[in-house]
Amino acid sequence: MTTLFLMVGLPGAGKTTEARRLAAEHGALRLTPDDWMLPLFGTAEADGKRDVLEGRLLWLALEAVRLGTDVVVDYGCWSRDERSAIRWLVEAEGACFRMVYLPVDDTTQRARIAHRWATSPAETFPMTEADIRHGRAHFEEPDAAELEGREPVGPPPGSTDWRRWAAHRWPSFA
Ligand SMILES: Nc1ncnc2c1ncn2[C@@H]1O[C@H](COP(=O)(O)OP(=O)(O)O)[C@@H](O)[C@H]1O
Ligand SMILES: [Mg+2]
Repeated sequence: MTTLFLMVGLPGAGKTTEARRLAAEHGALRLTPDDWMLPLFGTAEADGKRDVLEGRLLWLALEAVRLGTDVVVDYGCWSRDERSAIRWLVEAEGACFRMVYLPVDDTTQRARIAHRWATSPAETFPMTEADIRHGRAHFEEPDAAELEGREPVGPPPGSTDWRRWAAHRWPSFA
């Protein structure tokens, strides 16, 4: 069955490293927004362009799934709603959704961010103390039920379905 893997975790958790491994193992298409943001715009975030980019990459991911190609979506996905939306969209295609959550403690995270900056500065961007703290404060850690997909979640109040929610969250998805 065609599978979409969704990487979840804070910066420095090791998502892209594991995404590369999964892509090689499964012959999957890896979609890492940083691989596009940096060459296109020279920065990790530019006036909301990251959300626009992610929308088109999500659209591409679902196209690939329809063609029978496994995909690794390497977004981080800090919010539960983002993850629920992508799970719903993938399952609506009759494909298999697999969340890959990589927890990371603060010390390890900082060491890995420093290691990445020292070893591959061209593929990354400097992270500030504020960025790291912002991530910790806003990351919604998936619980066991979410990881196992035991509790299907409906769209948030005010949204009729996940497809519409996704088009609002990621302009250019629709
Ligand atoms: N399991 C691991 N053990 C040790 N170092 C790792 C591990 N996974 C990734 N790294 C290193 O940590 C840094 C950040 O990894 P990366 O995959 O870029 O994280 P993310 O994509 O989650 O921000 C990289 O320098 C990478 O080589
Ligand atoms: Mg990464």
